[in-house]
Amino acid sequence: MTYNVGLIGWGTVGGGVLDILSQEKHRIEQRCGQEVSIKTIVTRSPSRSRSQNAGSALVTDDINVILNDESIAAVILLVGGTDISKEFCIQCLEAGKHVITANKAIIAEYWDELFAIAQDNNVILAFEAAVAGSIPIIDSLRDGFVANRIDGVEGILNGTCNYILTMMEECNLSYDSALEKAKELGYAEADPTLDVNGMDTAHKTAILARLSFNTQISMDSMNIEGIESLSAGDIESAKRLGARIKLLGLAQRQENGISLSVEPTLVPITHQLASVRLNNNAILIDGHACGPSVLIGQGAGALPTASAVLSDTIDIITGARQQAGPRNCNVTFESLDIIEDNLNRAPFYIRFVVQDESGVLAKICSSFSNHSISIDSVNQSTGNDNGEATIEIVTHPCLRSSLSSVINELGSKPILDVVTMKYLL
Ligand SMILES: NC(=O)c1ccc[n+]([C@@H]2O[C@H](COP(=O)([O-])OP(=O)(O)OC[C@H]3O[C@@H](n4cnc5c(N)ncnc54)[C@H](OP(=O)(O)O)[C@@H]3O)[C@@H](O)[C@H]2O)c1
Repeated sequence: MTYNVGLIGWGTVGGGVLDILSQEKHRIEQRCGQEVSIKTIVTRSPSRSRSQNAGSALVTDDINVILNDESIAAVILLVGGTDISKEFCIQCLEAGKHVITANKAIIAEYWDELFAIAQDNNVILAFEAAVAGSIPIIDSLRDGFVANRIDGVEGILNGTCNYILTMMEECNLSYDSALEKAKELGYAEADPTLDVNGMDTAHKTAILARLSFNTQISMDSMNIEGIESLSAGDIESAKRLGARIKLLGLAQRQENGISLSVEPTLVPITHQLASVRLNNNAILIDGHACGPSVLIGQGAGALPTASAVLSDTIDIITGARQQAGPRNCNVTFESLDIIEDNLNRAPFYIRFVVQDESGVLAKICSSFSNHSISIDSVNQSTGNDNGEATIEIVTHPCLRSSLSSVINELGSKPILDVVTMKYLL
């Protein structure tokens, strides 16, 4: 017996899928109990030379070859972006084919629509590869941790950003030099915008929040900040505080709903996520019964991502993944409010560059007090030749809106510059 699969997109991850399927053909087919064949590959430029061999697969730019082939039961969709990829996904689902994808953007942004179509057509939409590459976080949330009330998810979800931040900290590189190095090593794409501006992490955080809290998540409700404006000074400040800066996706259960954010965050070096270096990803799941559990691994790249794609594919072939039932991704059990970011409480780090004159520290501290923000620690540097000094403050948990009020109240004199960052406890 042969299980026929269609592949749409023969780029980095598509190539990885073909590589694993040829290297591990025998073992994978033993697992599946039948032969697994990529029968048709659809890609924009079929004649472009690639390092993999398509074997007996027909290579074409016409998706109808897959849609009209009743012998193809599942399609691996590895085209990026949202427009054409979403269209391909819907076409395949409506043609009665299971879809396995690594495209986090379509899953995060069109979850309700896509899963409803999958359900109507009694097929599976699988997306393990959409978050954190090889780390089986989707399976873990849906299966392994399913008995838990998840209280929080903290993730380093973008390998490009984590690599840049590691290089800035460990090799004293500027942001631009670290980005260049990430490009040279293939960790960053020629256009890394969606990685460094936090959008990629936001898509993944939305998916994790959805699975963790079984509630509707809208991308609009998330505060998203990237790493582009981080400076050597920020990295130095983190070091002085015994912390590291990580771009974290945070989804946390609060008393009155859930909070969602993506932003550079100070992580104390004793925290499990602080030691996650280079292009690795890591996710801390805080379940009420299991406690904090951390999964670490390769979050991107041809083979790690293809590993997750094929894990879904094998589950579908063997029948291990069933669409129906309460563990179906389209089911929501709770209706939780997403708390506006300004109303979230967290400890913050604030660095003020000020004119070095008497009374500045008192003025700053009194403004914090006026807005009921309790200060955990203060550090003031001696003034430099330009007559500027730096005052660093770490607060106890406070509302971001109160912090904004402090900064507005202090105005521009004697404050010359302000940097604020969330501080992970
Ligand atoms: N790369 C990673 O490490 C990684 C990790 C996790 C998730 N992902 C996700 O996986 C997906 C694929 O990523 P990738 O890195 O493999 O992308 P990629 O290297 O850019 O490959 C994309 C493929 O899609 C094909 N394609 C684009 N438009 C098409 C169209 N209109 N019709 C048919 N084929 C079309 C391209 O065809 P041609 O080559 O013929 O032009 C190319 O083969 C993306 O959603 C990405 O976010 C990637």
